[in-house]
Amino acid sequence: MKFFIDTANLDQIREAQELGILDGVTTNPSLMAKEGITGQDNILAHYVKICEIVDGDVSAEVISTDFDGMVKEGEALADLHEQIVVKLPMIKDGVKACKYFTDKGIRTNVTLVFSAGQALLAAKAGATYVSPFLGRLDDISTDGLNLIEEIRLIYDNYAFDTEILAASIRHTMHVIDCAKLGADVMTGPLSSITGLLKHPLTDIGLEKFLQDYQKGNK
Ligand code: G3P
Repeated sequence: MKFFIDTANLDQIREAQELGILDGVTTNPSLMAKEGITGQDNILAHYVKICEIVDGDVSAEVISTDFDGMVKEGEALADLHEQIVVKLPMIKDGVKACKYFTDKGIRTNVTLVFSAGQALLAAKAGATYVSPFLGRLDDISTDGLNLIEEIRLIYDNYAFDTEILAASIRHTMHVIDCAKLGADVMTGPLSSITGLLKHPLTDIGLEKFLQDYQKGNK
């Protein structure tokens, strides 16, 4: 399972990278705005900074909603750095743009996916990644994990290459449940990754080991 961090915060990206387990980064316009990154030139420069920190894929989202706009923006994003994956919304022109980029060998991440049918379309268009938004489904009392399970079944039935990128992950149990269901990738906040480290018995056990060492080495 690949671990992506879902943020545009450079310190958090560095922290995850230094842990040695980071496979990539996902961003979106909301995450960029949260970091105060505004203006197209600054946004593009920020993507390059992220690519220089991590070794893996960095999803950069278009803001156009029409085919021509998405193609123009996506090509500029892909030209920025070899690690960039063009992130496209799951709308009609997004599917068309996904197919266009697939044919050109440019990698894509189809985002804002909330149903198995949308995920099937993304795979048909050759998306590199599909991003089902687990947490946002949970927010409206709909089982987000069930969607991951459905997409896994459908993709396996037809051996689609599109990787399931479980997105809108909010906490550690989402990560573990997605791993059980066979999601290829998770993307979540730093806390959903570092939270996996924690167990009180580890802390208690370590303290005891160190105390016993001190006793024996006085
Ligand atoms: O990767 C998608 C993500 O950014 C959405 O997460 O927590 O805003 O639903 P959230």
